Amino acid sequence: MSTNPVSPATLALPKIAIRDVFKRFDGAPTNALENINLDIQANEFVTFVGASGCGKSTLLRTIGGLEVQTSGELLVDGKLVEGPGIDRAMVFQHYSLYPWMTVCQNIKFCRQLAAHTKDRTSSDVEAADGRADALLRLMGLQAMGHAWPNQLSGGMQQRVAIARALMGRPDIVLMDEPFGALDAQTREVMHDLIRYVHKLEKATIVFVTHDVEEALYLGGRVVLMAPRPGRIDTVYDVPFGDQRTQDLKHAPEFLRLKRDILDRIRETSGMKTDLEQLQRMTGAATA
Ligand SMILES: Nc1ncnc2c1ncn2[C@@H]1O[C@H](COP(=O)(O)OP(=O)(O)O)[C@@H](O)[C@H]1O
Ligand SMILES: [Mg+2]
Repeated sequence: MSTNPVSPATLALPKIAIRDVFKRFDGAPTNALENINLDIQANEFVTFVGASGCGKSTLLRTIGGLEVQTSGELLVDGKLVEGPGIDRAMVFQHYSLYPWMTVCQNIKFCRQLAAHTKDRTSSDVEAADGRADALLRLMGLQAMGHAWPNQLSGGMQQRVAIARALMGRPDIVLMDEPFGALDAQTREVMHDLIRYVHKLEKATIVFVTHDVEEALYLGGRVVLMAPRPGRIDTVYDVPFGDQRTQDLKHAPEFLRLKRDILDRIRETSGMKTDLEQLQRMTGAATA
């Protein structure tokens, strides 16, 4: 008789559990985060959108252990988050590469490896070299291993930053508007690349963006946050399956969902719709 070592309770354990999380910065008039509750399962790709100031970065930084909530609990694999950990890698909008290191050195220089420098064996070093080479190939950077960061385009620099984040095989990758500074064509390439990486590396990805199209194209779920106080407004299940191509961005059902989310962002942030704004302007002009 075979025994199943995985109990139903283990199966049900979310990768990230956010429970009643509040955050108020000193002297702030409202909560940056209010009553945040969300479970994120292992290997999910969840995207966060919402108006500027609704707490997306604060929430991401709290999951990363870079910020501490005022109350509530944040658990990863059922354990309380008590600071940054090697299981969670972060990628920001600005590439933050070390300018004095080559591409290859940047990729190999990661917290995970640094943490084990003391008792590193030669086979550890070989494994790290192999992993760095594989990541260079994955990111299409194999010809650039010896280049310096300032010799690379913005898209290439961000690919290096992602490779470096993946170097230590983190369970969770936290990305804060990572493609925000890239041009439209480069972003498209990065979208397909990051979806491929997600599939291959089986990481759980939490991805913040202000771009609804990006959020919908990448995410299995889109979490819409609203500001003042920063809170979760709506969680959308994205019904487009796993096989996505750029054409999806023009499909009627994609555009409809994009419109719904954009409308909801406008409603929750107190911004007027284009039409309302136009009416106000023309009304003011004729008054
Ligand atoms: N270090 C900080 N000190 C004080 N207030 C902050 C700090 N970081 C963020 N805030 C405030 O918290 C709110 C949420 O900010 P943020 O998480 O950066 O929003 P988003 O990333 O959605 O634009 C905003 O009102 C912002 O001004
Ligand atoms: Mg932000």
